[in-house]
Amino acid sequence: MTYNSFILCTLLTFSICLHGISAMDYFVTNEAASTPGGIRFDKEIGIPYTKQIMGTSIDFIWHTVFQQNSPYDQKPLDSVSVYIVEYEGVAVAWGNNNINISSIFLQGAEGDLKWIFTSVFYHEMTHVFQWNGEGHAPSGLMEGVADYTKLKAGYAQDQGFAKPGQGDSWDQGYDVTARFLEYCDEIVPGFVASLNKLMRFDFDVKFFEYLTEKPVDQLWMEYKAKYGQ
Ligand SMILES: *[C@@H]1O[C@H](CO)[C@@H](O)[C@H](O)[C@H]1NC(C)=O
Ligand SMILES: [Zn+2]
Repeated sequence: MTYNSFILCTLLTFSICLHGISAMDYFVTNEAASTPGGIRFDKEIGIPYTKQIMGTSIDFIWHTVFQQNSPYDQKPLDSVSVYIVEYEGVAVAWGNNNINISSIFLQGAEGDLKWIFTSVFYHEMTHVFQWNGEGHAPSGLMEGVADYTKLKAGYAQDQGFAKPGQGDSWDQGYDVTARFLEYCDEIVPGFVASLNKLMRFDFDVKFFEYLTEKPVDQLWMEYKAKYGQ
């Protein structure tokens, strides 16, 4: 092999590797472009920024939250589509790889719209990539994991996001469950990543015990006690 063909081979292998890792297409469609919320989206957020945070959030979810550094551990998707749609609601992940964001929500949001959008985005993008125990995981846990990503990414809102120790049960969902998962992660580093991995093919509440050596109810009580509640 000549020196030049060696370089060429190396470059080819490298680009095939890169392609294998990052072959993800991002599609963004503003279907509400003529509505006040859709106009606000174009002005304050825009499609280029949306594609940028699609990449950033997916990277964060794979590598930081779920610690799926091998493509074999990741959900096998080759594209994600985002739609700005006029409907009553905030946002929803649907199908295998789609996210709808409400233009009505964007229209009414108060404050830094880009920040609010990004925060919602981390949550919804987690739904696209998390395992759900083939449909057996409780929805409160699914929502908790999605809010956990938001929390870890630094996009938990100052007002309205639960403080550590708040809430009534581990599977209450959203911010309450996210704080509990944060606690589990303190006890067993990588807990959320390990739990998600176990949830690939099924769900069993005993996963908590398997990972921490404590049943989930005991964990919840100790968590509440730690914060004096
Ligand atoms: C999301 O928006 C798309 C495009 O308008 C629509 O086809 C789809 O039904 C919507 N999904 C949900 C769950 O609302
Ligand atoms: Zn959700």
